[in-house]
Amino acid sequence: MPTQYTIAVIGGDGIGPEVVETAIPAIDAAARKSDASLAWERLPYGAEHYLETGETLPEKAFRHLRDDVHSILLGALGDPRVPGNEHARDILLGLRFKLDLYINFRPCTLLHADLCPLKPAAGNASRAIDFVIFRENTAGSYLGRGAAHHVGTPQEEQVAEEVHTAVKVERIIRAAFAWAEAHGKRRVTMSDKSNAIPAHRLWGRLFEQVGAEYSSIEQEHRYVDALAMELVRDPERFEVIVTSNLFGDILSDLGAELVGGLGVAASGNLHPGRAGLFEPVHGSAPPLVGTGQANPLAAVLSGGLMLADLGLEDGAGRILAAVRAALAEGVTTPDLGGHATTRDVGRFIEEHIAGAA
Ligand code: NAD
Ligand code: IPM
Ligand code: MN
Repeated sequence: MPTQYTIAVIGGDGIGPEVVETAIPAIDAAARKSDASLAWERLPYGAEHYLETGETLPEKAFRHLRDDVHSILLGALGDPRVPGNEHARDILLGLRFKLDLYINFRPCTLLHADLCPLKPAAGNASRAIDFVIFRENTAGSYLGRGAAHHVGTPQEEQVAEEVHTAVKVERIIRAAFAWAEAHGKRRVTMSDKSNAIPAHRLWGRLFEQVGAEYSSIEQEHRYVDALAMELVRDPERFEVIVTSNLFGDILSDLGAELVGGLGVAASGNLHPGRAGLFEPVHGSAPPLVGTGQANPLAAVLSGGLMLADLGLEDGAGRILAAVRAALAEGVTTPDLGGHATTRDVGRFIEEHIAGAA
């Protein structure tokens, strides 16, 4: 009997449902090859549901996601009909915070040389970009704490608080080092903006403290502005980057673009030992809805991260191999220069996995 896993699916808004539904048969095929079976449980939460019912993520659904499922697969949230984005705050940020998924794991790996927008590195025929961003996922600028004064007057002042606690900073730094060690990485880069924001000095102190336990791993610091520059100039030198919530958000779109764009950028929101939430880095891309042009690879690769997290490394490897094959054969959506539709790409991946030995 194959092991069965229950996966909650929140397609969400815009292209979210399209890319997730396209990815599901491919992820299923990979799980089957690993002698596992996935029971998909679709949940309706998103802008449409919010506009119809006033409900974002009800407490009962939250408890169900916390207690009864092995993983969550999410498409995207964001809809022009909800300009305040309050449903995304409750559903996406709400799940990250309330499930305490403190690691936002965002790999940036070049899966095909042609996807890199940079010139070949000096003396190198092709680029070999492969780093991962450990984005702190439960604090920083994302808590929504702050105040508003004199609204609507010339004296209006909007205050957004940025919160860094020792416990939260230490655990994400520790997660980055532990992952680096377990995966044979030699260098961890911590990024902050402590030259302008004194509160960020906490990151430096704890990086040094935790780093002392990992003497075999090279440790370096970069201010985030310089890191953004260096990621374009010499991305190959980075292996593991650990940073705050907001900087991780920004750097992960930059990192995505170095390896093909948002259409191929996957992520996992993790708390070791608990069910994770897996999602493409991209958003709901309203202009692409229904065009058949949304790239499903970010969702497929997020499914690969999910399988690895469930312990199905073989299935994760099959997904990666199938994605590489689609890229090599040019079965890609227009964002990657191809003429295939969302479904064509999904079908190729599924058949490649099902047909492989
Ligand atoms: P976006 O990621 O939706 O789109 C940015 C650009 O990337 C656009 O040019 C879009 O066409 C392209 N793109 C994105 N995904 C693609 C895919 N799968 N295939 C091909 N091209 C793709 O970001 P945005 O336009 O800034 O935001 C749109 C909405 O999505 C907003 O409401 C935003 O808040 C939300 N958003 C949600 C998430 C999430 O749910 N995790 C992430 C980012 C943005
Ligand atoms: C992401 C997104 C979200 C974030 C938005 C939609 C709140 O950009 O997952 O990268 O900033 O975390
Ligand atoms: Mn983002």
